[in-house]
Amino acid sequence: MEKLEELYEGKAKRIYKTEEDDKVIVEYKDDATAFNGEKKGQIVEKGKLNAEISTIFFELLEDNDIPTHLIERLNDTDVLAKKLDIILVEVVMRNIAAGSLAKRLGLEEGTELSQPILEFYYKDDDLGDPMINEYHIQAEEIADPNDLEVIKDLAFKINEILVEFLADKGIDLVDFKLEFGKGTDGEIYLGDEISPDTCRFWDAQSKKKLDKDRFRRDLGEVEGAYQEILKRLNL
Ligand code: C5P
Repeated sequence: MEKLEELYEGKAKRIYKTEEDDKVIVEYKDDATAFNGEKKGQIVEKGKLNAEISTIFFELLEDNDIPTHLIERLNDTDVLAKKLDIILVEVVMRNIAAGSLAKRLGLEEGTELSQPILEFYYKDDDLGDPMINEYHIQAEEIADPNDLEVIKDLAFKINEILVEFLADKGIDLVDFKLEFGKGTDGEIYLGDEISPDTCRFWDAQSKKKLDKDRFRRDLGEVEGAYQEILKRLNL
């Protein structure tokens, strides 16, 4: 399958048309951004690492009956995927307090949550992706209520699958972001990516951060952290 015209360029990926209307090619870039694009940089080989890491996670989820957009990885940075109409709700799942949750609730980073927390954010760069709840989503018709029920159910299932898989690799899944969309068949699929750009991964023993927080917080060894995640996933 060949890349045709570019349909969209995001902060970390480009999406291309293909000869088939229901399929796109997702190209992972080395560009890294944080704080809604205010901090910009490059992470060496990030495109390749994230394409590979995300493919491993999406294959794991497919094997566990989660519908995803993944069709196949084509080369180092390119993945063939079902074309989705992205639902403008970002779903964040949290197992351990960190980042904006720790700040908002005054919790110490690393505090284990008594149960997973699901949050919704409105996918809108101009607004800085504000947090919303189901009432905002309904009132503003951001997503269909039935679709939202499906998405919530999938998000909790995905969390269970990933937590168990990563625990086996000595990694704590602190939190992560998911995006869903509708395929040309009208079904809901998991889209976007699952990678150190979109998840917080901590080494289970040392609690060392192995994700984009190393870039966000200038902690150094950014590439090494992404490489370490890939190495562990392949163990
Ligand atoms: O910043 P915050 O603590 O809300 O992020 C929660 C999780 O969602 C983190 O794993 C972060 O990487 C991810 N996230 C993301 N894209 C965003 C916002 C958050 O991947 N726009």
